[in-house]
Amino acid sequence: MSSSDSLTITRPDDWHVHLRDGETLPHTVRDIARYFGRAIVMPNLVPPVVTVQDAAAYYERIKREVPEASQFEPLMTLYLTEQTRIEAVRQASNDELVHAFKLYPAGTTTHAEFGIRSIESSYPVFAEMEKQEIPLLLHAEVNTDDVDIFDREAVFIDRHLIPLTRQFPDLRIVFEHITTTTAVQYIEATFDKVAATITAHHLMYNRNDMLAGGMRPVYYCLPILKRKQHQQALLKAATSGNPAYFLGTDSAPHPRSTKENSCGCAAGCYTAHAALELYAEVFEGLGKLDRLENFASHFGADFYGLPRNSDTIKLVKQSWDVPDTISFGANELVPIKAGQQVAFKVVPE
Ligand code: DOR
Ligand code: ZN
Repeated sequence: MSSSDSLTITRPDDWHVHLRDGETLPHTVRDIARYFGRAIVMPNLVPPVVTVQDAAAYYERIKREVPEASQFEPLMTLYLTEQTRIEAVRQASNDELVHAFKLYPAGTTTHAEFGIRSIESSYPVFAEMEKQEIPLLLHAEVNTDDVDIFDREAVFIDRHLIPLTRQFPDLRIVFEHITTTTAVQYIEATFDKVAATITAHHLMYNRNDMLAGGMRPVYYCLPILKRKQHQQALLKAATSGNPAYFLGTDSAPHPRSTKENSCGCAAGCYTAHAALELYAEVFEGLGKLDRLENFASHFGADFYGLPRNSDTIKLVKQSWDVPDTISFGANELVPIKAGQQVAFKVVPE
């Protein structure tokens, strides 16, 4: 199907995205619905999406923004809090819009203040998820002062993920936005029940891009970018053909004013304006463009037990300019690759 300047693949899905709400929603939905068939929509609104009723209402707000020509379907998730009860897991597993629960350890990232302080106290809820076969999506970082920010993911694996998977061997887990060689080694050893999403920005950049020669807020996200050897492990994993790894952009919009801010920088990179195209650049750079389709369009659906999309999209090798800023209602946002070129474009077939 592929020649050097064009590639036709099964329609891709994004297995991790932040669409937000209110005036941001028309913009994020426009970008994500451009060619993605489905997306796992993160529940970290304020207040968070915690019940099936919250998810249904949010689903409707998203659907209202989907352009007529797009068949985009949001796949909803619920935010796990310390108040989540077994009954909520049963309701979610019987609900056709809800596909997973998201666990944020309290304080680890944007709007994680409603999250879990003691993972062990949620064990009864995990037992029910295991029984109902509903996936648990993990923001896999600890958030304690004794742990360096660059070690937060690796420490989470030791302190929480290994005990969790021992206790619940059949629980289906997505280790979201992995960033380290430790995570890759962990997935290689446990795949079947534990899969992982990989973002475009963690494939494209390492911490030098963010910190060397000046601090660049556009690259600040959580989990934070790591050193180059970790980036290389992610590149190898994403292009390996192992079905444990699939596309999840973690595209997360923040206004420029909250990122370029002397009192702290909001965590999140916006990639939805060019998501598949950025992954295509990465895969092509490694001579592995033939592996993009499985990563972007097959392995995620297989893991979630959903059918693969039945139609296709076409990517062409055609450079285009990413604007310096994108306007988002009253705000402006600096996207990844602002003011630079992207080498691929999805075009109508
Ligand atoms: O960088 C991030 N931004 N990481 C997350 O986990 C959340 C996200 C957001 O919602 O902005
Ligand atoms: Zn996220």
